[in-house]
Amino acid sequence: MHKARQSVTRADRDETRPIQGRRSTPLTRNRRIYAALLVPALALAVAACGVTPQTTLEPTTEAARTARDLLMFVFWAMVVTFVLVEGALLYCLIRFRRRSGDGIPAQTHGNTPLEIGWTIAPAILVVVIVVLTVPAIFSNARAASPDALQVRAIGHQWWFEFQYPDIGVVTANELHLPVGRDVEIQLESNDVLHSFWVPSLRGKLDMVPGRDNKFTIKPEVTGTFPGQCAEFCGTAHALMKFYVVVETQAEFTAWAETQRAERVPPASDLARQGEETLTLGGCVACHTIRGTDSAGILGPDLTHIGGRQHIAAGLLENTPENMRAWLSDPQGVKPGNTMVIPELTTEQLDALVAYMQGLK
Ligand code: CUA
Repeated sequence: MHKARQSVTRADRDETRPIQGRRSTPLTRNRRIYAALLVPALALAVAACGVTPQTTLEPTTEAARTARDLLMFVFWAMVVTFVLVEGALLYCLIRFRRRSGDGIPAQTHGNTPLEIGWTIAPAILVVVIVVLTVPAIFSNARAASPDALQVRAIGHQWWFEFQYPDIGVVTANELHLPVGRDVEIQLESNDVLHSFWVPSLRGKLDMVPGRDNKFTIKPEVTGTFPGQCAEFCGTAHALMKFYVVVETQAEFTAWAETQRAERVPPASDLARQGEETLTLGGCVACHTIRGTDSAGILGPDLTHIGGRQHIAAGLLENTPENMRAWLSDPQGVKPGNTMVIPELTTEQLDALVAYMQGLK
């Protein structure tokens, strides 16, 4: 029995190996080898794509550090409280357990010093948490400097629109910001509640229809930071992701210039055919591609879709294969999304993929 339990524990720890017979068959040995190779390969792949993990524990701005510090204080206060309370409970359970021959113990009604103690101690802890939290709330709500970059982030079911009113840029699902400059982000919603959350840049803030929520951040390091909607907003809520690309001022200026321009004209016959398919099909009703007849505003602006790192609201890397998968079965890739697309022939798919990949 004891032995069996040990073997299950070991198998549990080896995540790649299902719980089965104790003997190491050639199959399980192979799996171990694959696992041993796979883990470093995955780690390399993750490191190579340069995206930081989506975690509050690796803050890269003042606002995110404030939130992390507060979180860590409350966490450790909770750990200490838990150990003290559960320790006292366990001690009493063992020390004062009933032994054979024991009669009914002395009956006590209340203990005033103890009760005052366990009311005051948590109250002090709560006061300390409040004293630390209130300044954090105010520092997170600080006003932007006068030269701050203005951004409107608009939540849609189920994607993010980003507008830069001062520099005439409109894009989707990939927010570019210059490093070292205040950015004031105004949060809006086109339909239901959403929430803007990029944990390494800042804690979450809701996007509420009809209400102006805004916050200021100052990105301190360049990189690509993942974010996602953090407020349940319907079927595809869990698949409503986006990325923030923090870059140098020069890179940002160049990016903005590209974004302001009309679409890059198709460079091949196939791509030209793709543009025709797109503008003659239903796509124009929802999407804008500046420089063509497509001027819909229900879906993301696609003028420079080919230059984005991801498609389908941050869900897939922007590769020709993924673009083809997305266009041929949007409901399979992102269940619930509202894109209506007719069934496309192989030639139409080839043409659309070639066209959209060229929209840098
Ligand atoms: Cu948008 Cu959840």
